Amino acid sequence: MEFIDTHCHICDPAFRDDEQGYIDRALEAGVSIMLQADVDSTERAAMYALTERQSSHLRPMLGLYPGSVDKNWEQEMLEVEKWIGKGAVAIGEIGLDYHYGAEFSDEQKQALRVQLELASRLDLPVNIHLREATADFLEIVRECRHLGLRGNLHAYSGSYETFLELQRLGDWRIGVGGVVTFKKASLAEVVRRVPLERIVLETDAPYLSPVPYRGTRNESSYIPLIAAKIAEIKETDIEEVAFVTTSNAKALFAL
Ligand code: NI
Repeated sequence: MEFIDTHCHICDPAFRDDEQGYIDRALEAGVSIMLQADVDSTERAAMYALTERQSSHLRPMLGLYPGSVDKNWEQEMLEVEKWIGKGAVAIGEIGLDYHYGAEFSDEQKQALRVQLELASRLDLPVNIHLREATADFLEIVRECRHLGLRGNLHAYSGSYETFLELQRLGDWRIGVGGVVTFKKASLAEVVRRVPLERIVLETDAPYLSPVPYRGTRNESSYIPLIAAKIAEIKETDIEEVAFVTTSNAKALFAL
């Protein structure tokens, strides 16, 4: 079986001194490619250097994370532009996040629009981070229909109805990770209804570890636990989940 982790952060300090161990454990688990989510200029050079060192297995994404958007977002966008053409397989992670307050919601929306246009111009998919801002996100996607966007909502936490609305607006998939293994996760019901052809796997490592590692450091080698849970929910086998989600990820990110 082959898996792809479509969203993780191996650059995180949680993995300091464990880079090779991380990669080796992932390969052992069948995870052949891991997409690195970009955050902002504080981490970008290190993230690209990491993907260069591990170029057989890692691919960079490029973008300004909504949690890093403030008054200086245009300055940060100039930093993003310096890395265009250096191998990014997607524009991400980008999006909206009002969880810690909506102080910079206008700036977040502007940064998102600019980066959706960038993705369209470069003909790249987008990797979306969306938290507590669904209505604003859908409004922007509606405005941007002419851009012919494709991408996925990473760590999807929305409803099935939001998924259906996204299907009407463009070529959207959902990223499913460790949360699907949590007890009482409403995500399980969404995953049951969303076709496997619209799902890609991810960890968001070091965050959101699946059961039985919940609350501890997450890593790409746990992807099979997520696939097994999806197989259980969809009453199929893990081989099917591996094959379809890996095909989805390869097609979406041109891997
Ligand atoms: Ni992330």
